[in-house]
Amino acid sequence: MNPNEFIVIKALEDGVHVIGLTRGTDTKFHHSEKLDSGEVMIAQFTDHTSAMKIRGKAEIQTAHGTMTSDAKSK
Ligand code: TRP
Repeated sequence: MNPNEFIVIKALEDGVHVIGLTRGTDTKFHHSEKLDSGEVMIAQFTDHTSAMKIRGKAEIQTAHGTMTSDAKSK
């Protein structure tokens, strides 16, 4: 991914987590950001962040398209 690109995450419910995973030989959580409904996070992949995990219902916009993650089903 082009490191200049941003991805946009809009929470569609309270308590959405955006979790950053480390780049390198081990893949670990290094940061977790909690978003409430309507809140937006704009982020890039960096030397430290190779992947992101989105937990909860959110709209995710990337250069590859827009998708929606779902809430955990009960
Ligand atoms: N300090 C982190 C980094 O430079 C900040 C960060 C960038 C981040 N992208 C992220 C944190 C995505 C969580 C999710 O890598």
